[in-house]
Amino acid sequence: MKTKKIAPSLLSADFSNLEKDIKMVEQGGAHVLHLDIMDGHFVPNITFGPFIVKAINKVATIPLDVHLMIENPGDYIDAFIDAGADYLTIHAEATPHLHRVLQKIKARGVKAGVSLNPHTPISMIENVLEDIDLVLIMSVNPGFGGQSFIQNTIDKLHRLQKLLKEKNAEHIEVEVDGGIKIENIKEVCDAGCDIFVAGSAIFKADNPQKAIQMMFDRIT
Ligand code: DX5
Ligand code: ZN
Repeated sequence: MKTKKIAPSLLSADFSNLEKDIKMVEQGGAHVLHLDIMDGHFVPNITFGPFIVKAINKVATIPLDVHLMIENPGDYIDAFIDAGADYLTIHAEATPHLHRVLQKIKARGVKAGVSLNPHTPISMIENVLEDIDLVLIMSVNPGFGGQSFIQNTIDKLHRLQKLLKEKNAEHIEVEVDGGIKIENIKEVCDAGCDIFVAGSAIFKADNPQKAIQMMFDRIT
């Protein structure tokens, strides 16, 4: 049974005091922590690697949702799982061997996700539906927080729901990432989202815990 989850993206948190921000969102009702891994190649920005994920894992009590925006993701699967990833998501555009890399994740017993950039068609995942637990639909071009939600994501989500139904794959969780705010979260929910990533809308809010609560209220 799928449940609705709020996933604060630490990209917009205070990196000089991550522990404080992690505790704050946990106490505010966050369900998973979204960690954005960027390599400066797949996306034009660099964040952090397994070493920091491991440190986060020491203080976090909710599951870690690791979003790899890196080239050659297959080379880093073990490192991120050893660091504590509970969900590990790779981009379909980042490897010619999507099936192989997903098998590698599944073999380690963590939840395997595939992410699609805004321009990437849903058909990219059609032949790996049996191998995944999560689809992560990018609603901005990956690389930065604070961008505006790309509105045609809503149509894409409807088409994804149709595909999941046709293929008897409705157990797969649907996550949406980028530009989600209190104002549009309900529309994203109605289009078929289960896990809602929000960076700036939570960490840049005057009261981040209240923002989480207001978001959750709108989707439940
Ligand atoms: C963007 C990242 C997102 C980002 C979302 O490439 O994948 O997770 O933190 O930030 P907001 O919610 O501010 O759009
Ligand atoms: Zn992300």
